Amino acid sequence: SEIEMYGVLCFWVLLQAVSSADIPTGVKTNDSPVIGVLAQEVYAAPSGKNAYIAASYVKYLESAGAKVVPVMINRSEEEYTRLFKSLNGILFPGGGVSITSSGYAKAAGIFYRLALEANSKGDYFPVWGTCLGFEQLTLLTSEKLLLSHTNTSGVALPLNFTSEVSDSRMFKDFPKDLMTSLANEPLTENSHQWSITTESFKGNEKLNKFYRILSTNTDGQKEFVSTVEAYDYPVYGTQWHPEKNTFEWTRPYIPHTPSAIKTTFYMADFFVNEAKKSLHSFSSQEEEQNALIYNYSPSYTGKMSAFEQIYFFA
Ligand SMILES: *[C@@H]1O[C@H](CO)[C@@H](O)[C@H](O)[C@H]1NC(C)=O
Ligand SMILES: *[C@@H]1O[C@H](CO)[C@@H](O)[C@H](O)[C@H]1NC(C)=O
Ligand SMILES: *[C@@H]1O[C@H](CO)[C@@H](O)[C@H](O)[C@H]1NC(C)=O
Repeated sequence: SEIEMYGVLCFWVLLQAVSSADIPTGVKTNDSPVIGVLAQEVYAAPSGKNAYIAASYVKYLESAGAKVVPVMINRSEEEYTRLFKSLNGILFPGGGVSITSSGYAKAAGIFYRLALEANSKGDYFPVWGTCLGFEQLTLLTSEKLLLSHTNTSGVALPLNFTSEVSDSRMFKDFPKDLMTSLANEPLTENSHQWSITTESFKGNEKLNKFYRILSTNTDGQKEFVSTVEAYDYPVYGTQWHPEKNTFEWTRPYIPHTPSAIKTTFYMADFFVNEAKKSLHSFSSQEEEQNALIYNYSPSYTGKMSAFEQIYFFA
Protein backbone atom coordinates (compact mmCIF):
# COMPACT_ATOMS: atom_id res chain seq x y z
CA SER A 1 0.00 0.00 0.00
CA GLU A 2 0.94 3.60 -0.36
CA ILE A 3 1.21 4.06 3.39
CA GLU A 4 3.51 1.10 3.72
CA MET A 5 5.59 2.40 0.82
CA TYR A 6 5.83 5.75 2.56
CA GLY A 7 6.96 4.00 5.74
CA VAL A 8 9.62 2.10 3.84
CA LEU A 9 10.75 5.29 2.16
CA CYS A 10 11.04 7.18 5.45
CA PHE A 11 12.97 4.30 6.93
CA TRP A 12 15.26 4.32 3.92
CA VAL A 13 15.77 8.07 4.23
CA LEU A 14 16.56 7.62 7.91
CA LEU A 15 19.05 4.85 7.12
CA GLN A 16 20.70 7.05 4.53
CA ALA A 17 20.94 9.84 7.09
CA VAL A 18 22.39 7.56 9.74
CA SER A 19 24.94 6.08 7.37
CA SER A 20 26.20 9.48 6.26
CA ALA A 21 29.37 10.80 7.84
CA ASP A 22 27.60 14.08 8.64
CA ILE A 23 25.35 12.78 11.34
CA PRO A 24 22.32 15.07 11.64
CA THR A 25 21.38 16.44 15.04
CA GLY A 26 18.68 14.41 16.73
CA VAL A 27 20.15 11.03 15.74
CA LYS A 28 21.77 9.44 18.74
CA THR A 29 25.53 9.12 18.33
CA ASN A 30 28.46 8.56 20.56
CA ASP A 31 31.08 11.29 20.60
CA SER A 32 33.33 9.31 22.89
CA PRO A 33 34.13 6.25 20.77
CA VAL A 34 36.42 3.54 22.11
CA ILE A 35 38.04 1.37 19.47
CA GLY A 36 39.81 -1.93 20.03
CA VAL A 37 43.14 -2.61 18.33
CA LEU A 38 44.04 -6.29 18.17
CA ALA A 39 47.45 -7.42 19.47
CA GLN A 40 49.51 -10.23 17.93
CA GLU A 41 52.28 -12.63 18.86
CA VAL A 42 55.83 -11.29 18.89
CA TYR A 43 58.86 -13.54 18.94
CA ALA A 44 61.77 -11.08 19.46
CA ALA A 45 60.66 -8.95 22.37
CA PRO A 46 61.86 -7.75 25.75
CA SER A 47 61.81 -10.67 28.18
CA GLY A 48 58.43 -11.63 29.52
CA LYS A 49 56.60 -9.99 26.61
CA ASN A 50 54.92 -12.10 23.96
CA ALA A 51 52.45 -9.82 22.18
CA TYR A 52 52.53 -6.34 20.66
CA ILE A 53 50.67 -3.51 18.97
CA ALA A 54 52.51 -0.97 16.79
CA ALA A 55 51.81 2.45 18.31
CA SER A 56 51.07 3.99 14.89
CA TYR A 57 47.63 2.28 14.84
CA VAL A 58 46.85 3.78 18.24
CA LYS A 59 47.96 7.29 17.30
CA TYR A 60 46.09 6.99 14.00
CA LEU A 61 42.74 6.44 15.75
CA GLU A 62 43.50 8.96 18.49
CA SER A 63 44.30 11.62 15.87
CA ALA A 64 40.69 11.51 14.67
CA GLY A 65 39.04 11.59 18.08
CA ALA A 66 38.87 8.04 19.43
CA LYS A 67 40.15 6.34 22.56
CA VAL A 68 41.90 2.98 22.12
CA VAL A 69 41.74 -0.29 24.04
CA PRO A 70 44.30 -3.03 23.33
CA VAL A 71 42.59 -6.34 22.59
CA MET A 72 44.87 -9.06 23.95
CA ILE A 73 45.30 -12.41 22.22
CA ASN A 74 44.52 -15.88 23.59
CA ARG A 75 41.73 -14.76 25.89
CA SER A 76 38.47 -16.62 26.40
CA GLU A 77 35.46 -16.21 24.15
CA GLU A 78 33.54 -14.89 27.19
CA GLU A 79 36.10 -12.14 27.67
CA TYR A 80 35.97 -11.16 23.99
CA THR A 81 32.17 -11.13 24.07
CA ARG A 82 32.18 -8.84 27.10
CA LEU A 83 34.72 -6.56 25.41
CA PHE A 84 32.70 -6.55 22.19
CA LYS A 85 29.72 -5.13 24.09
CA SER A 86 31.98 -2.40 25.51
CA LEU A 87 33.78 -1.30 22.34
CA ASN A 88 32.53 0.80 19.41
CA GLY A 89 34.64 -0.85 16.70
CA ILE A 90 37.76 -2.91 16.14
CA LEU A 91 40.87 -2.61 13.99
CA PHE A 92 42.89 -5.66 12.90
CA PRO A 93 46.38 -4.27 12.22
CA GLY A 94 49.08 -5.37 9.83
CA GLY A 95 51.79 -7.75 10.97
CA GLY A 96 53.36 -11.09 10.40
CA VAL A 97 51.40 -13.83 12.18
CA SER A 98 49.40 -16.74 10.77
CA ILE A 99 45.87 -15.87 9.69
CA THR A 100 44.80 -19.48 10.29
CA SER A 101 46.32 -20.50 13.63
CA SER A 102 47.61 -17.50 15.64
CA GLY A 103 45.98 -15.94 18.67
CA TYR A 104 45.40 -12.90 16.41
CA ALA A 105 43.49 -15.05 13.89
CA LYS A 106 41.34 -16.61 16.63
CA ALA A 107 40.42 -13.29 18.22
CA ALA A 108 39.74 -11.72 14.80
CA GLY A 109 37.41 -14.61 13.97
CA ILE A 110 35.43 -14.14 17.17
CA PHE A 111 35.08 -10.35 16.73
CA TYR A 112 34.16 -10.74 13.06
CA ARG A 113 31.37 -13.20 13.90
CA LEU A 114 30.07 -11.06 16.78
CA ALA A 115 30.12 -7.98 14.51
CA LEU A 116 28.11 -9.65 11.75
CA GLU A 117 25.56 -10.94 14.26
CA ALA A 118 25.22 -7.53 15.93
CA ASN A 119 25.05 -5.54 12.69
CA SER A 120 22.35 -7.79 11.25
CA LYS A 121 20.27 -6.98 14.35
CA GLY A 122 20.80 -3.23 13.86
CA ASP A 123 23.53 -2.97 16.51
CA TYR A 124 26.20 -1.00 14.61
CA PHE A 125 29.77 -2.21 15.05
CA PRO A 126 32.46 -1.34 12.47
CA VAL A 127 35.41 -3.60 11.67
CA TRP A 128 38.60 -2.52 9.92
CA GLY A 129 41.44 -4.65 8.57
CA THR A 130 44.77 -3.19 7.45
CA CYS A 131 47.26 -5.29 5.45
CA LEU A 132 47.39 -8.59 7.40
CA GLY A 133 44.01 -7.55 8.84
CA PHE A 134 42.63 -7.18 5.32
CA GLU A 135 44.03 -10.60 4.38
CA GLN A 136 42.41 -11.97 7.54
CA LEU A 137 39.05 -10.47 6.50
CA THR A 138 39.24 -12.12 3.06
CA LEU A 139 39.80 -15.46 4.79
CA LEU A 140 36.99 -14.91 7.31
CA THR A 141 34.51 -13.92 4.61
CA SER A 142 35.44 -16.51 1.96
CA GLU A 143 36.52 -19.28 4.40
CA LYS A 144 39.30 -19.93 1.90
CA LEU A 145 42.98 -19.02 1.59
CA LEU A 146 43.05 -17.18 -1.72
CA LEU A 147 46.29 -15.19 -1.44
CA SER A 148 49.08 -15.02 -4.03
CA HIS A 149 52.66 -13.78 -3.78
CA THR A 150 53.24 -10.25 -5.06
CA ASN A 151 56.31 -8.01 -5.24
CA THR A 152 54.91 -5.38 -2.89
CA SER A 153 57.00 -5.60 0.26
CA GLY A 154 58.04 -1.95 0.32
CA VAL A 155 56.45 0.40 -2.18
CA ALA A 156 54.12 3.40 -2.21
CA LEU A 157 51.50 3.35 -4.98
CA PRO A 158 48.63 5.50 -6.29
CA LEU A 159 45.21 3.82 -5.99
CA ASN A 160 43.52 2.57 -9.13
CA PHE A 161 39.95 3.44 -8.12
CA THR A 162 37.04 1.43 -9.49
CA SER A 163 33.88 3.09 -10.78
CA GLU A 164 32.18 2.18 -7.46
CA VAL A 165 34.27 4.66 -5.48
CA SER A 166 32.02 7.69 -6.01
CA ASP A 167 29.13 5.89 -4.29
CA SER A 168 31.29 4.43 -1.54
CA ARG A 169 30.81 5.25 2.11
CA MET A 170 34.57 5.33 2.63
CA PHE A 171 35.57 7.94 0.07
CA LYS A 172 32.42 9.92 -0.66
CA ASP A 173 33.27 12.71 1.78
CA PHE A 174 36.96 12.95 0.87
CA PRO A 175 38.01 16.29 -0.64
CA LYS A 176 38.04 16.15 -4.45
CA ASP A 177 41.66 17.27 -4.68
CA LEU A 178 42.74 14.52 -2.30
CA MET A 179 40.92 11.92 -4.44
CA THR A 180 42.82 13.24 -7.46
CA SER A 181 46.10 12.99 -5.55
CA LEU A 182 45.29 9.45 -4.35
CA ALA A 183 44.66 8.37 -7.94
CA ASN A 184 47.82 9.96 -9.30
CA GLU A 185 50.49 10.12 -6.60
CA PRO A 186 52.09 7.26 -4.66
CA LEU A 187 50.34 7.97 -1.32
CA THR A 188 49.51 4.44 -0.18
CA GLU A 189 52.31 2.40 1.39
CA ASN A 190 52.37 -1.34 0.72
CA SER A 191 54.33 -3.73 2.97
CA HIS A 192 53.02 -7.16 2.02
CA GLN A 193 54.24 -10.23 0.21
CA TRP A 194 50.75 -11.69 -0.10
CA SER A 195 47.78 -10.19 -1.91
CA ILE A 196 44.43 -11.27 -3.24
CA THR A 197 44.37 -10.90 -7.01
CA THR A 198 41.33 -9.22 -8.56
CA GLU A 199 40.77 -12.46 -10.44
CA SER A 200 40.70 -14.64 -7.28
CA PHE A 201 38.52 -12.10 -5.53
CA LYS A 202 35.98 -11.90 -8.33
CA GLY A 203 36.12 -15.66 -8.75
CA ASN A 204 34.94 -16.17 -5.17
CA GLU A 205 31.19 -15.82 -4.78
CA LYS A 206 31.28 -15.06 -1.04
CA LEU A 207 33.78 -12.22 -1.43
CA ASN A 208 32.00 -10.84 -4.46
CA LYS A 209 28.65 -10.75 -2.70
CA PHE A 210 30.01 -9.31 0.52
CA TYR A 211 32.45 -6.59 -0.59
CA ARG A 212 32.49 -3.77 -3.09
CA ILE A 213 36.02 -3.33 -4.52
CA LEU A 214 37.01 0.34 -4.29
CA SER A 215 40.56 0.16 -5.62
CA THR A 216 43.10 -2.19 -7.13
CA ASN A 217 46.87 -2.07 -7.63
CA THR A 218 49.45 -4.05 -9.51
CA ASP A 219 53.04 -5.11 -8.86
CA GLY A 220 53.65 -5.02 -12.61
CA GLN A 221 52.66 -8.69 -12.96
CA LYS A 222 49.54 -9.29 -10.90
CA GLU A 223 46.59 -6.99 -10.25
CA PHE A 224 45.39 -7.21 -6.66
CA VAL A 225 42.54 -5.75 -4.61
CA SER A 226 43.74 -2.87 -2.43
CA THR A 227 40.60 -1.32 -0.83
CA VAL A 228 37.18 -2.81 -0.04
CA GLU A 229 34.02 -2.02 1.88
CA ALA A 230 31.24 -4.49 2.58
CA TYR A 231 27.92 -3.77 0.86
CA ASP A 232 25.65 -4.37 3.83
CA TYR A 233 27.96 -4.27 6.84
CA PRO A 234 30.39 -1.66 8.21
CA VAL A 235 33.36 -3.90 7.38
CA TYR A 236 36.34 -2.28 5.66
CA GLY A 237 39.79 -3.29 4.51
CA THR A 238 42.93 -1.87 2.93
CA GLN A 239 45.90 -3.91 1.76
CA TRP A 240 47.90 -0.67 2.22
CA HIS A 241 48.77 1.21 5.40
CA PRO A 242 46.84 4.45 6.00
CA GLU A 243 48.46 4.88 9.44
CA LYS A 244 52.10 4.91 8.32
CA ASN A 245 52.25 8.22 6.40
CA THR A 246 51.85 10.34 9.52
CA PHE A 247 53.38 8.08 12.16
CA GLU A 248 56.18 5.93 10.74
CA TRP A 249 59.57 7.22 9.53
CA THR A 250 61.62 4.00 9.48
CA ARG A 251 61.50 3.30 5.73
CA PRO A 252 62.42 5.61 2.82
CA TYR A 253 59.33 4.66 0.78
CA ILE A 254 56.77 5.85 3.34
CA PRO A 255 55.24 9.02 1.85
CA HIS A 256 54.99 12.17 4.00
CA THR A 257 53.84 14.79 1.48
CA PRO A 258 50.94 17.06 2.51
CA SER A 259 48.54 14.82 0.55
CA ALA A 260 49.99 11.71 2.20
CA ILE A 261 49.37 13.16 5.67
CA LYS A 262 45.82 14.16 4.68
CA THR A 263 45.24 10.58 3.49
CA THR A 264 46.09 9.28 6.95
CA PHE A 265 43.75 11.79 8.57
CA TYR A 266 40.74 11.29 6.29
CA MET A 267 40.97 7.50 6.55
CA ALA A 268 41.10 7.70 10.36
CA ASP A 269 38.30 10.29 10.39
CA PHE A 270 36.10 7.98 8.33
CA PHE A 271 36.56 4.98 10.61
CA VAL A 272 36.24 6.96 13.85
CA ASN A 273 32.95 8.43 12.56
CA GLU A 274 31.78 4.88 11.86
CA ALA A 275 32.59 4.01 15.48
CA LYS A 276 30.54 7.00 16.65
CA LYS A 277 27.46 5.19 15.33
CA SER A 278 28.02 2.39 17.84
CA LEU A 279 26.32 2.87 21.18
CA HIS A 280 28.17 0.13 23.08
CA SER A 281 29.77 1.19 26.33
CA PHE A 282 31.71 -0.19 29.26
CA SER A 283 29.59 -1.00 32.30
CA SER A 284 31.40 1.63 34.35
CA GLN A 285 33.85 4.47 33.87
CA GLU A 286 36.35 2.58 36.01
CA GLU A 287 36.13 -0.50 33.78
CA GLU A 288 36.79 1.68 30.72
CA GLN A 289 39.71 3.43 32.39
CA ASN A 290 41.31 0.11 33.29
CA ALA A 291 41.02 -1.14 29.71
CA LEU A 292 42.43 1.93 27.91
CA ILE A 293 45.84 1.89 26.19
CA TYR A 294 46.75 4.83 28.47
CA ASN A 295 47.61 2.16 31.09
CA TYR A 296 50.60 1.11 28.95
CA SER A 297 53.69 2.90 27.62
CA PRO A 298 55.14 2.31 24.16
CA SER A 299 58.86 1.56 23.70
CA TYR A 300 61.01 3.38 21.15
CA THR A 301 61.84 0.66 18.60
CA GLY A 302 62.63 2.72 15.49
CA LYS A 303 66.32 1.78 15.60
CA MET A 304 65.62 -1.94 15.21
CA SER A 305 62.17 -2.40 13.66
CA ALA A 306 59.79 -1.03 11.05
CA PHE A 307 57.85 0.70 13.82
CA GLU A 308 58.94 3.85 15.65
CA GLN A 309 57.09 2.81 18.80
CA ILE A 310 55.62 -0.49 19.98
CA TYR A 311 53.41 -1.45 22.89
CA PHE A 312 54.61 -4.79 24.27
CA PHE A 313 52.33 -6.95 26.40
CA ALA A 314 52.86 -9.93 28.64
C1 LIG B 1 48.40 -17.95 21.52
O1 LIG B 1 47.88 -19.20 21.09
C2 LIG B 1 48.54 -19.73 19.96
C3 LIG B 1 47.86 -20.98 19.52
O2 LIG B 1 46.65 -21.19 20.13
C4 LIG B 1 50.00 -20.00 20.29
O3 LIG B 1 50.67 -20.47 19.14
C5 LIG B 1 50.65 -18.71 20.76
O4 LIG B 1 51.96 -18.94 21.17
C6 LIG B 1 49.86 -18.09 21.90
N1 LIG B 1 50.42 -16.78 22.14
C7 LIG B 1 50.65 -16.29 23.32
C8 LIG B 1 51.23 -14.94 23.35
O5 LIG B 1 50.38 -16.92 24.33
C1 LIG C 1 59.92 -5.59 -7.39
O1 LIG C 1 59.48 -4.25 -7.41
C2 LIG C 1 60.51 -3.28 -7.34
C3 LIG C 1 59.87 -1.91 -7.33
O2 LIG C 1 59.00 -1.79 -6.27
C4 LIG C 1 61.43 -3.44 -8.54
O3 LIG C 1 62.50 -2.53 -8.43
C5 LIG C 1 61.94 -4.87 -8.61
O4 LIG C 1 62.67 -5.03 -9.79
C6 LIG C 1 60.80 -5.86 -8.59
N1 LIG C 1 61.32 -7.22 -8.52
C7 LIG C 1 60.87 -8.18 -9.32
C8 LIG C 1 61.49 -9.53 -9.11
O5 LIG C 1 60.03 -7.99 -10.19
C1 LIG D 1 43.30 0.08 -13.42
O1 LIG D 1 42.36 -0.97 -13.43
C2 LIG D 1 41.78 -1.21 -14.70
C3 LIG D 1 40.70 -2.26 -14.51
O2 LIG D 1 41.23 -3.44 -13.98
C4 LIG D 1 42.87 -1.63 -15.67
O3 LIG D 1 42.30 -1.82 -16.95
C5 LIG D 1 43.93 -0.55 -15.75
O4 LIG D 1 44.99 -0.98 -16.55
C6 LIG D 1 44.44 -0.26 -14.35
N1 LIG D 1 45.36 0.88 -14.40
C7 LIG D 1 46.55 0.84 -13.84
C8 LIG D 1 47.36 2.09 -13.94
O5 LIG D 1 47.00 -0.15 -13.26
